[in-house]
Amino acid sequence: MTDLEDVDLEFVQLGETGLQTSELQFGTWRFGKETEAGNVEIDEERGHELLDAYEAAGGRFIDTADVYGNGKAERWIGDWLADRDRERYTIASKVYWQIREDDPNSRGTNRKNVRHRVERILDRLDTDYLDLLYIHRWDDQTSARELMKTLNGLVESGKVHYLGASTLRPNAWKVAKANEIARSEGWEPFSVVQPRYNLVDREIEGDYLEMARHYGLAVCPWSPLGQGFLTGKYDREDGLTGQSRAAESSRFEEAYLTEENFDLHDELDAVADEVDATPAQTALAWLVHRDGVTAPIVGARTVDQLEENLAAATIDLSDDQVDRLTEAKQGPYPGL
Ligand SMILES: NC(=O)c1ccc[n+]([C@@H]2O[C@H](COP(=O)([O-])OP(=O)(O)OC[C@H]3O[C@@H](n4cnc5c(N)ncnc54)[C@H](OP(=O)(O)O)[C@@H]3O)[C@@H](O)[C@H]2O)c1
Repeated sequence: MTDLEDVDLEFVQLGETGLQTSELQFGTWRFGKETEAGNVEIDEERGHELLDAYEAAGGRFIDTADVYGNGKAERWIGDWLADRDRERYTIASKVYWQIREDDPNSRGTNRKNVRHRVERILDRLDTDYLDLLYIHRWDDQTSARELMKTLNGLVESGKVHYLGASTLRPNAWKVAKANEIARSEGWEPFSVVQPRYNLVDREIEGDYLEMARHYGLAVCPWSPLGQGFLTGKYDREDGLTGQSRAAESSRFEEAYLTEENFDLHDELDAVADEVDATPAQTALAWLVHRDGVTAPIVGARTVDQLEENLAAATIDLSDDQVDRLTEAKQGPYPGL
């Protein structure tokens, strides 16, 4: 079985930006996140241990968002970075979700909200700039022109280096439209997209990946393990057989624990055995081997999970194994 001692994450290029970033990114969605049952998935101490483990494996790309843990994720990352050379890390954050219940301007991508939120992000991370700013979702109330003009201003001011669009599936045309406007105005376009993509959620395999290829966008998939479904800890008959905080979400069971997904998992187990890896490592390796994918965003609740997942970088799948996994779930792929 591959373990972390063999892992030294390599750099890959982020689309056409020229920026060299880690082949596996580290996601902090679960930092300070409360489950519906009131449990915190990852506290500050664990968060710092996870960042230490990621760094020890050579990881240099940290993905966060201003709503993760209501700002705690960014603060904890900022504290962790304080003892380090910030220049060595690529940090991505996101804006969109409403943060004040009684204030409609505190959601979306209107200029007032975006500018204010970016200032707060920089404060919490205690840094002068963000490497990558994503819009967390598309805001239908702000025109694409307004959005791209605002984002371009942030790039020109040096507060943000590159722009990304998170999710927006299956609306590839919205990213295309925004980039066409940016191009025609000489503004900074989106360089990166962050869609949900894993062995059981393949909706982006239609127009979306093609659009990303056309614009030379980096593709950084989130929930690469289907929120833990692809790790082997769920059983067709018995349901959850190990520890999980993620499964405390009411939508999880409906979205992931289906007969069709368990059939796919059987093939995943078979390929995992052949390459002497775990299902989680094999599912991540499949994603890394997919044409058009730049770097999955790896999530983990414990250091053991993270170490297991990062070791996926050392796993080589044959074309036949990739094809078998790809074909184990037939499209079309409706949203989960
Ligand atoms: N742009 C967006 O809208 C968006 C949305 C979601 C996520 N993201 C980004 O993507 C990152 C990853 O998403 P995700 O957390 O959903 O990823 P994921 O890898 O699909 O799921 C991670 C969860 O699966 C379980 N797990 C992971 N590795 C495991 C292992 N080896 N063995 C057993 N269980 C394991 C853990 O939960 P349990 O132990 O509780 O089961 C862990 O918290 C996030 O941190 C965030 O940065 C972005």
